[in-house]
Amino acid sequence: MPHPLEELRKAARREIESASDAQSLEAARVKYLGRSGSISSWGEQMKTLGKDEKPTVGKLLNHVRNAVTAAIEERAQKFRTERESDALANIDISLPGTRHERGSLHPLTQMLDRSIDIFRRMGFALADGPDIEDEWHCFDALNTPPDHPARNEQDTFYLPDGRLLRTHTSTVQIRAMQAAPPPMRVIAPGACYRRDEIDATHSAQFHQIEGLYVDENVSVADLKGTLEFFMRELFGPETAVRFLPDHFPFTEPSLQIHVRSKALKRGEQWIEVAGCGMVHPAVFEAVNKARGDAAYDPEKWTGFAFGLGMDRLAMILFDIPDIRLFAQNDLRFLRQFA
Ligand code: PHE
Repeated sequence: MPHPLEELRKAARREIESASDAQSLEAARVKYLGRSGSISSWGEQMKTLGKDEKPTVGKLLNHVRNAVTAAIEERAQKFRTERESDALANIDISLPGTRHERGSLHPLTQMLDRSIDIFRRMGFALADGPDIEDEWHCFDALNTPPDHPARNEQDTFYLPDGRLLRTHTSTVQIRAMQAAPPPMRVIAPGACYRRDEIDATHSAQFHQIEGLYVDENVSVADLKGTLEFFMRELFGPETAVRFLPDHFPFTEPSLQIHVRSKALKRGEQWIEVAGCGMVHPAVFEAVNKARGDAAYDPEKWTGFAFGLGMDRLAMILFDIPDIRLFAQNDLRFLRQFA
C-alpha cells in the first residue's frame, strides 16, 4: 500500500493541475504548503515517529514538499506567460512609437561647464553672489567713485529701494574676500545686466566668469599664464593671446585680453574676450574695512582678477553670429547644440 504521503502528493498534483487561475492555485498552495497545510502538519507528526521510521518518512516528506512546490511554481509560470501574451496581443507592433523629446544643455551652459572644468584643474573653487546687488558691492568697494559713468541711471537697472542689477560679476570678488581670508582662488560665473542698446553683440543680460587670485607674490606673469592657459585649453593650442592696456577702477594695471586662432571661423581677427588686472590696493582696503580686520593687507598680499565675457566666448567657440539667439528659445538654434 502506498504511503499516505504519496496519496497526499497525488491529490496535490491533481488539484494544482486543475487550478484554472492564479486564485485557485493560491488556494491549493495554502492547503498543502501553508503554515497549517497538510504537508506542514506532517512535519509536526515527524516528532512522534520512532527512530527507525524517521529517516525514511523524513526523506519522503522532503521529496513530496519539493515536488508540490515545483508543481505550483510551474503552474504559476504558465499563468504569468499567458497573461503577458494576452497583453502583447493588444499591441500593434507595426504602429509608430511615441517619440520622446530629448533635452540638451544650452550652449551657454556647455560653455560654462567647459570653462569651470579648465579652472578647476588650476585649483579655482566656485564662488557665488546675488544678481540683485547693493551699490557698495557693485561700485564703492570696487574703487568706483560716485561720479563714474557706470553708475549712471541710463547705464544700470536700479530698483526703487536703491539696489541694482549687478553690472558685472566683480561684486563676487568683494563677497568672497569678505567671507574668507587669503589665500583666495575663486571663479564666479553668473548673469550681469546693463542698459545697453540691444543688437547682435549687446544684450541687456549677459554672462561673465569672474576670477580672483590672491596670494603672496602674485604677479602679472601669473595672470597672463593663467588666462593664456585657459584660452588655449578652450580654443586649441594654436590660439594666440594678447594683452592690451585698459582701465578699470578696481585693477592697476588693467588689461584687456584678445584672442585669435586659425582653428576658429573668425580666425584672422583679434577678438576682445575679457578684462583683467592686478587687484587695486583700494579694493583690499575696502574689504578690510568691511571685515573689521587687516586680513587683506595690501603690503603682504597681491592678486589678480579677471572678467570673461561668456556669451562672447560661446559665440566664438560655436561660431554664433548673434547674441540674441541665446535668449530667443528657438529650437532650430538650440537643437544644433544637442
Ligand atoms: N568687471 C569688468 C567688466 O565687467 C571686467 C573685469 C573684471 C576687469 C575683473 C578687471 C578685473 O568689464
